[in-house]
Amino acid sequence: MREKMGRLRRTHMCGDLRTSQIDEKVVLMGWVQRERNLGSLIFVDLRDTTGICQIVFDSTVSEEIFKKAEKVRSEYVLAVEGIVRKRESINKDIPTGEIEVLAKELKVLDESETPPIYIKDDDNVAENMRLKYRYLDLRKPSMQNRLKMRHKAAKVVRDFLDENNFVEIETPMLTKPTPEGARDYLVPSRVNSGRFYALPQSPQLMKQLLMVSGMDRYYQIVKCFRDEDLRANRQPEFTQIDIEMSFVDVDDVIEMNERMLYRVFKELKGIEIELPIQRMTYKEAMERFGIDKPDLRFGFELVDITDIVKDSQFKVFSGTIANGGHVRGINVKGYGDGLSRKDINGLEDYVKTFGAKGLAWLKVTEEGITSPIAKFLSEEELNNILDRMDGDKGDLLLFIADKPKVVFDSLGNLRNVVAKRLNIIDNTEMKLVWITEFPLFEYDEEEGRYVAKHHPFTHPMEEDIDLLETEPEKVRAKAYDIVINGDEMGGGSIRISDPELQKRMFSALGFTEEEAWNKFGFLLEAFKYGTPPHGGIAYGFDRLIMLLTNSSNIRDVIAFPKTQSATCLLTGAPSEVTEDQLKEIHIKLDLE
Ligand code: AMO
Ligand code: AMP
Repeated sequence: MREKMGRLRRTHMCGDLRTSQIDEKVVLMGWVQRERNLGSLIFVDLRDTTGICQIVFDSTVSEEIFKKAEKVRSEYVLAVEGIVRKRESINKDIPTGEIEVLAKELKVLDESETPPIYIKDDDNVAENMRLKYRYLDLRKPSMQNRLKMRHKAAKVVRDFLDENNFVEIETPMLTKPTPEGARDYLVPSRVNSGRFYALPQSPQLMKQLLMVSGMDRYYQIVKCFRDEDLRANRQPEFTQIDIEMSFVDVDDVIEMNERMLYRVFKELKGIEIELPIQRMTYKEAMERFGIDKPDLRFGFELVDITDIVKDSQFKVFSGTIANGGHVRGINVKGYGDGLSRKDINGLEDYVKTFGAKGLAWLKVTEEGITSPIAKFLSEEELNNILDRMDGDKGDLLLFIADKPKVVFDSLGNLRNVVAKRLNIIDNTEMKLVWITEFPLFEYDEEEGRYVAKHHPFTHPMEEDIDLLETEPEKVRAKAYDIVINGDEMGGGSIRISDPELQKRMFSALGFTEEEAWNKFGFLLEAFKYGTPPHGGIAYGFDRLIMLLTNSSNIRDVIAFPKTQSATCLLTGAPSEVTEDQLKEIHIKLDLE
């Protein structure tokens, strides 16, 4: 049975009714959350995007309507006209819990098969079912609230940027490869056989061109595409708040962004973040936290003990140091008892994924020191270690000996994992930090050359420019990341606007002039005609929404996300295409 709305028009939303509407005639429309038939009374919880309202069907009011109501099941779509009245048994858990609607008219607008997933927030159904039936999953209030927060955040950002004279400008999706360095999604051209567009990894080059055009301040909330390995906070297509400004240096970009972040947290969370946001150089972040996106909500900072153990009998330490490595540790201060030997073994397996060869440890207990390595260390070495690392009763010290990259990677990530395992992170706290002075280059072992750490248009710090040819590894960049609670929320830089400097940058990256022109010639050509100093930033908008909605999975803040293997379970994308379609775009498949 499917009926038309007829004369019925919605007067209120389900979640909005209160005692002030008692005795009013209302019309509600929505989905059946659940129904209970008590013989002469039927209760239906009717749900729309604002919440739930209890509807009562009384056989003594209308036999005909009651009969219809008897057939109603979960997820049927109803239109109900009735009178608001006070409820006998008040439900304190929902905002409409003091009232109910006594039904006088009912139209069943649509029926529903039994849904394959329950429309319930605390239902821990497998995620692939949620993704396959995403439209049902999105009926859940928690999911709707996330999307509403996403909408509001976009609005706050747009309002702020508009007030500050930024102009939102769209840039092409079918374009040339951009310089972010992930793998491109390619789109074959039908009319230009053998040629491909790349979907943008970001609008980086276009926004720089807009500065050359004199648009002065640009922004865009924009989809970006990167074919890379996916993680809990990565999607193949994701959204950036992308920003670029003319006639600025690092402090100007940071100052503007701090005001924007202040607005976002104030308006959406009621949190007043402290300005200016603290800054930390990349070097300090690595030394203290082993990672360039430190979570500052807890301690366990890295401590270097290389000098203490360089001549130790413990060859794992001294041998590594003799080969140019070093030894660092963290003190799980005050929580040593929270980690058992089995836990530590688990942590050892974890650090091995970062290339560590083992995880040495030392527990300070009432009875003294427990440790598989203590017997190899002299008393002086032990005392010096405890001294340097502030080791005391109840502490657990964890050490890695290796080359610097492995030590930092292992301990930096171990720190986060240990804090999570011990459940000591206060989720209401917001710790923001700018990481500055990133290295301009990083060495790519596979390619055997330096590659740009951010991208090749990033401006070196003035005082390091002279090292470009001689000691490129020492050159720091005018680049900055905003890190919140251990997550990289955004990153940007001041760009090179001087063609001579850009040439030196390309040659340090091992590009010939010709290669540089092939890839980015259109930008280099534009730079010949008067380029303002400029710089900007891009935020991972999805990540920001994760933070604002306390979500641990990026898929939860995207209406129709992709799985870990970049598929869409709802539509079945990516899918096969016909021979004819392939022919049109001049492509032959060679599937092994
Ligand atoms: P970057 O590559 O650092 O900079 O990207 C900016 C921000 O985008 C987010 N992000 C992602 N979010 C979800 N899924 C992904 N796969 C993903 N990749 C990146 C991160 C990151 O901080 N054009 C430069 C910006 C600039 O220089 O102005 C750029 O794209 O939060
Ligand atoms: P071994 O002598 O190899 O059995 O190692 C003794 C202890 O040192 C074990 O707890 C190992 O996990 C640890 N260990 C081994 N190699 C390293 C390393 N490179 N860094 C830190 N600890 C290590």
